[in-house]
Amino acid sequence: MRENIETGTAEAHNFGFESDQRKRTLNFILWIAFFASVLLGLISIHFEDYQAGYVILLLNPTCLVCLFLNARGKFYTAAGIASVVMFFAAVYDLYSRGSLLDDMGIVAFPVLIVACSLLFGKRGLYVFSGLSLLAISAIGVLEINRLIINQPSKIDASDLTTALVLVLCVSVLVWVIIDNAQKNLQRIKADDQDIRVSYELTLESLAKALEFRDRDTESHSRRVVELSLALAKEMGLGEEDLVNIRRGALLHDIGKLAIPDKILLKPGALSHEERSVMQEHAAHAMELLSDIPFLQPCISIPYCHHERWDGTGYPQGLKGEEIPLYARIFTIIDQWEALNSDRPYRNAWPRETILNYIKDNSGKIYDPKVVEKFLSLIGGQQEEAAGSASDSSHLLMVKQTTEPIIK
Ligand SMILES: [Fe+2]
Repeated sequence: MRENIETGTAEAHNFGFESDQRKRTLNFILWIAFFASVLLGLISIHFEDYQAGYVILLLNPTCLVCLFLNARGKFYTAAGIASVVMFFAAVYDLYSRGSLLDDMGIVAFPVLIVACSLLFGKRGLYVFSGLSLLAISAIGVLEINRLIINQPSKIDASDLTTALVLVLCVSVLVWVIIDNAQKNLQRIKADDQDIRVSYELTLESLAKALEFRDRDTESHSRRVVELSLALAKEMGLGEEDLVNIRRGALLHDIGKLAIPDKILLKPGALSHEERSVMQEHAAHAMELLSDIPFLQPCISIPYCHHERWDGTGYPQGLKGEEIPLYARIFTIIDQWEALNSDRPYRNAWPRETILNYIKDNSGKIYDPKVVEKFLSLIGGQQEEAAGSASDSSHLLMVKQTTEPIIK
């Protein structure tokens, strides 16, 4: 059953966290670049280095555009534009001033490598380390060979090698930091996954404990879980809802653990008093589960699955959409599955009789919208089983008018 456990949501959750973190990081980097470029641009202009000043100031509108794109969810576009523009601004600044190692602009490259590694991980590190080494080498070689016009060379090959080794050292250090961070993140993800699997296996054990006690309902939990998830998907619910419904369905009758054997295991119909005691299982479920934080989103199924659309159910007598949606979905599945199974006190109903019962009670016991989706789900499964040539309309002919015994 372990393979049935939902893992997609955990991965989606981790992915969402990483994605938010990258988005926030890009925002920080863009704001830092914005203010730094204002300062550096004005300083360059003040010292009459107009060309470099204007190029650096060009980063301002770029940062604003990228902030806008990032806010609209276009992270990769924003990060890509910002990284490339900042890289070329750094290269131009270094080239235009000449005197490679005397120019503090060279510090922009290690900063750029760190920033791009934060945004793109190891891929960003490899690409921007490579580009930085290439750019510094090219400008250095041009300068050594006096190919940069109007810039007297002040460096030799040894200076250039030193600069390249230092940039390489920064890259390796960043690689080590990122590698450690990724390994830690993977370990946290694995631990998180183990905890989630343990949660689900614990819930399955609880459901099994109830089935061991009440042999009549053996495998009932597994079947209602599968059908509830199918109906929830038919209704277009999301991944998180599916996880909650799965948990709620597994635990739906957990409150029956508090019902005495002589009532729970009674082979015949229950007396009025016994029925009242049996109905307390919903409130018992609430008592059992209400202090467990991760079960709060699913508790409406164990607590409200005997409520009725017309307000005549229990324990609270909720009416219509006052009944939580998970419970409205589960109620139909629970009764469909129970009526499809033999019990010591009655045989399973014919499939068509159950369908008619559910249709007749749409708007009385069941939410009409959920009934509609349920019939379409069952109809789809029926057609799949019978093949497209068969006519299934005859299955809806039998009428059931009496109230079924469902404990
Ligand atoms: Fe129940």
